[in-house]
Amino acid sequence: MINILFLGAPGSGKGTQSENIIRDYDVIQISTGDILRKAVKDGTPLGMEAKNYMTQGLLVPDTLIVEVMSERLKAEDAKNGFILDGFPRTVVQVEALDAMLEKELSYKITHVISLEVPDDIIYERITGRRSCPVCGRVYHIKFNPPKSAEACDADGEKLICRDDDTVETLSKRLKVFHESTAVIKPLYEKRGIVLSLDGTRSAADVYKKIKAFLG
Ligand code: AP5
Repeated sequence: MINILFLGAPGSGKGTQSENIIRDYDVIQISTGDILRKAVKDGTPLGMEAKNYMTQGLLVPDTLIVEVMSERLKAEDAKNGFILDGFPRTVVQVEALDAMLEKELSYKITHVISLEVPDDIIYERITGRRSCPVCGRVYHIKFNPPKSAEACDADGEKLICRDDDTVETLSKRLKVFHESTAVIKPLYEKRGIVLSLDGTRSAADVYKKIKAFLG
C-alpha cells in the first residue's frame, strides 16, 4: 500500500502529478483545495467559513482543515492508498496528521514528494492555468493546452480560471507557502522518506522520476 504526500508551492505541479499517479496506481487523490472549493460552490458551512481565507490567499484555520481531513481519511475509499495533495501545510497539521495515523487509522505515509519550483516560474504557471469546473482536469495555455482553446478534452466543458489565480493573490499564497508550509519539509526529511524533485522540468520528466521512486 502506498500513501503519498505532496509538498510544493502553489503551481508546483502537485495536482498535475496526482492526476498521473491515480491513472497508474491504485490510489485516490485527496486534495484539500478541491474539497474546499466544492464546499464554497455548494455553500456549506465549511465553504462559507473557508471562502474569505481562500480569496485572500491565506490558509484556512488548522482546526477546520484537521476536522475535514480526519473524516476524509476514515472513508472506505482511502483504504487502498491515497495521495495527500495540499495537506498538511503547517506544523500543527503535521502533528494532527501524525496523531490521526497513529491513533485512529492504521496507515503510514510511505512516500513524500517535494516539487521544487522558483517563484518566478510559478507566476507563469498560475496565470496560464485553466481547469475544468466539472471534472477538475488541469491545463495550461502554453505548457499543456487543451485540444480546443477553451474546452475540456474530457467532457467539453468551458474551462475556467480559479478565483485565487490572480497575480495579487498569488503573491500572498507564495508568502504563506514560504513562511508556514516550506518549514514542514525538514520534519519529513528526518524520517528519510522525502524525494525532492526539480519541478521546473517538463511534467512528463517529473513523472518519470516519481514512477521510479514509487516503484
Ligand atoms: P490548493 O488548491 O491546494 O492550491 P495550491 O497549493 O496553491 O496549489 P495549486 O492547486 O495552485 O497548484 P498545484 O501544485 O496543484 O499545481 P498544478 O498541478 O495545478 O489550495 C487553495 C487554497 O485552499 C489555499 O490557498 C488555502 O486557502 C486553502 N487550503 C488548501 N489546503 C489547505 C490546508 N491544508 N490548510 C489551510 N488551507 C488550505 O499546476 C499549475 C499549472 O502549471 C497548471 O496549469 C499545469 O498545467 C502547469 N504545470 C504543472 N506542472 C508543470 C510542468 N512540469 N511544466 C510546465 N507546466 C506545468
